Amino acid sequence: MKFKEIKNNIFYCGLNDCNREFFDELIPLENGTSYNSYLVKGCEKIALIDTMYPPKTEEYLKNLDENGITKIDYIIANHGEQDHTGSIPALLEKYPDSVVVTNQKCKDNIKEMLHVQDDKFLVVNSVDEISLGDKTLKFIVAPGVHWPDTMFTYLVEDNLLCTCDFLGAHYTFEDIFADNSKRLENSAKRYFAEIMMPFRAMCKKYTQMIKDMSVDMILPSHGPIYKNPDFILDLYSDWTADEGKNLVLLPYVSMYGSTEEMIDYLVEKLSQKNIETKKFDIIRGDLGDYARSLVDATTLVIGSSMVLAGPHPAAFNITYLTGVLRPKAKFAAFVGSYGWGGNLVGKLQEQLAGLKLEIIEPLLVKGKPNKEDYEKLDNIVNEIYEKHKLLNLF
Ligand code: FEO
Repeated sequence: MKFKEIKNNIFYCGLNDCNREFFDELIPLENGTSYNSYLVKGCEKIALIDTMYPPKTEEYLKNLDENGITKIDYIIANHGEQDHTGSIPALLEKYPDSVVVTNQKCKDNIKEMLHVQDDKFLVVNSVDEISLGDKTLKFIVAPGVHWPDTMFTYLVEDNLLCTCDFLGAHYTFEDIFADNSKRLENSAKRYFAEIMMPFRAMCKKYTQMIKDMSVDMILPSHGPIYKNPDFILDLYSDWTADEGKNLVLLPYVSMYGSTEEMIDYLVEKLSQKNIETKKFDIIRGDLGDYARSLVDATTLVIGSSMVLAGPHPAAFNITYLTGVLRPKAKFAAFVGSYGWGGNLVGKLQEQLAGLKLEIIEPLLVKGKPNKEDYEKLDNIVNEIYEKHKLLNLF
């Protein structure tokens, strides 16, 4: 495969992975993913920015051969996770004079995870630079987007910024430049939800920093290159905002239909009050869709049947996932149905403790909801309405 030129001797040398179904064995990939790598040819030195996912190493090295790359001086590692560093040992074997340029934390990770020798590294810190002759690489340590070892590489003369995982998308493409489509936006939002949302404050900070840099292009390590950086930066400004939208997300699992009946009633009544709702079937739904909805939701209503004196395991799983993804939601309610009792709300609430949600009076019913239960559901609707109104979400 011939490398595509991005600008002035800077080439895309990454690979699509169209067949990958899950990332982190957690959330399904709608559009596969790409592992991006960038070759920067200066008049004196050559650098490779980020490398390749281990199963793709052979194809990656073959492409370097086919493009006549006989020497690499610097292998820039912006982050230690193996989808970007997995090929480093093979690259060092192929190009024995190259050195791995990275920050101290990332060096420690690569040494321990991939067993790379200490003398193969050049450690850099924020604002350090290396020269390739007519091109300068400047490093910006950016912990938290994604790991504590993450950094960005800025190509000074060309005004391009390689942001590693930050601002990426699980997306495959023919054209290396973003088409700014709704499909790309949706993939980038799923990606943000799963990977970046737990670090929302850091994402907000770096979004503003990059806006202030006014770079010409953003080169992430997953998904297409942004020739119009404002497309993705404006989306991140929205997704990282402190306030959510006028949206209630209702994940539920229902064994005999009673819990779903209550969820459906809430959806209908909330909609009548002009509150947007997203009902999510935990068993059959796509977790990526759920995570994406979490980006905007202000209120969560979790519905669960009771199994063996506790919540259904699927509800337990969804509240755990919600807790670790750290969405901006402010309120939560719980509804559920039981046969002979137990502790449902306490166990689910525990998983969400880190979110500091304000809890609305829960409703647990024995079997099917009766007239009084529907009145209590009306109370939940009214309370959510008042809370959204107070936040000026209408
Ligand atoms: Fe794409 Fe944090 O690795």
